[in-house]
Amino acid sequence: MPEVNLLWRYPSAKRNIGARLAIKEENRAAALKFDREYFDGTREQGYGGYRYDGRWQKIARDMVEYWDLKPGMKVLDVGCAKGFLVKDLLAACPGLQVYGVDISHYGLTHAEAEAKGRLVRASCEALPFPDRSFDAVIGINVIHNLPHEQCLKAIREIERLAPGRGYIQVDAYRSEDERALFLEWMLTCKCFDTPEGWRRRFAKAGYTGDYYWTILEIDENIVR
Ligand SMILES: C[S@@+](CC[C@H](N)C(=O)[O-])C[C@H]1O[C@@H](n2cnc3c(N)ncnc32)[C@H](O)[C@@H]1O
Repeated sequence: MPEVNLLWRYPSAKRNIGARLAIKEENRAAALKFDREYFDGTREQGYGGYRYDGRWQKIARDMVEYWDLKPGMKVLDVGCAKGFLVKDLLAACPGLQVYGVDISHYGLTHAEAEAKGRLVRASCEALPFPDRSFDAVIGINVIHNLPHEQCLKAIREIERLAPGRGYIQVDAYRSEDERALFLEWMLTCKCFDTPEGWRRRFAKAGYTGDYYWTILEIDENIVR
């Protein structure tokens, strides 16, 4: 169960927090629907435009190498949104069987054409697939959107589908400053913790796959 950052090539996680101070409860309520507002609404409601820009291509290649994925093997992206990673995994390893799951009707119906027919609407705490049916299961910034008990179920589901071959990335904080910044900034997260708290949760769920953290960092260039 190693801690490994498979997203090390993802663009910096530093957020323009100066521009996000206007977050209000109505923004959170809108975001939590995981509908148009969350993906393609304003920055205060979510991504402020969730568009394919190729940033997952290198990460997809790293994943193929990390798990030694070969044509015919099966991979699931839980919380696949518009299928960007699904598309890039298909390109990184032609013949790989890649599928995605998301709760968002909007995300799935605005997905990349290459992912068409590969995406299923479901919630991550009840994944509609048999035990051990995948060679790798990825869940990036998705399970922390569920409250504690459901989050545990989601971790167990990832383990059930691909024992020891999961990759879960979750929001985390390492200090009171990071926690305060996170609480101010976050929109949809219901379960957040320190890395140590997450490790305990993974152990409780019997998770044996890999994991890493999304940590908000203060951008010193932003004057607040
Ligand atoms: C922060 S986005 C991450 C998307 C993508 N994994 C990425 O890293 O760009 C969270 C995604 O999780 C989806 N989501 C939220 N709750 C979910 C649930 N209970 N089951 C499945 N997907 C969920 C949202 O619709 C959204 O697409």
